[in-house]
Amino acid sequence: MIAVRPARPDDAERLSNLHIEGFDDAWSAVAIADLLRSTGVFGFIAELDSKPAGFILCRQAADEAEVLTIVTAPAFRRRGIGDDLLHHGLAAALAGGATSVFLEVAEDNPGAEALYRAQGFGAVGRRPGYYLRASGAVAALIMRRDLNR
Ligand SMILES: CC(C)(COP(=O)(O)OP(=O)(O)OC[C@H]1O[C@@H](n2cnc3c(N)ncnc32)[C@H](O)[C@@H]1OP(=O)(O)O)[C@@H](O)C(=O)NCCC(=O)NCCS
Repeated sequence: MIAVRPARPDDAERLSNLHIEGFDDAWSAVAIADLLRSTGVFGFIAELDSKPAGFILCRQAADEAEVLTIVTAPAFRRRGIGDDLLHHGLAAALAGGATSVFLEVAEDNPGAEALYRAQGFGAVGRRPGYYLRASGAVAALIMRRDLNR
């Protein structure tokens, strides 16, 4: 059974291990623990039968929130975990007073873009050459969603 709960700084090792499974330039446990102790940063971890399955980190300042990162372990993808984590992040941002949420997604990541579009995000900008890959630079799409509707 999937359970989602708030992420704590002492989850950082688990979260970093999940991040390694999702990104080439994964974040260290120290960096994640520091983030989770920073003002305005919050996150959720999804556990499937007590095994870490995914997480989301968000940051909020005044009425704007941002999705910093989201990842589902490869073995657990396409079971609704990313969707569930995003719902939790957006609900917490709304509860904290945010009226809009931003995120960035690489243009070569159509799966993540589909997840965001399905939850009401739309493209509002583009940063050319934002992500550096071995194969070359890739643009970031900036996406935004209003929360008060
Ligand atoms: C993006 C990611 C978090 C999605 O997690 P997930 O748990 O597999 O997502 P869900 O199962 O909740 O998917 C919800 C919906 O998003 C869309 N979606 C998710 N992954 C998709 C994919 N690979 N291709 C197409 N659509 C996809 C679908 O609409 C899906 O609904 P469906 O399965 O009913 O068709 C996951 O693929 C991941 O960790 N990728 C590596 C890290 C990453 O790219 N993070 C985002 C950085 S911006």
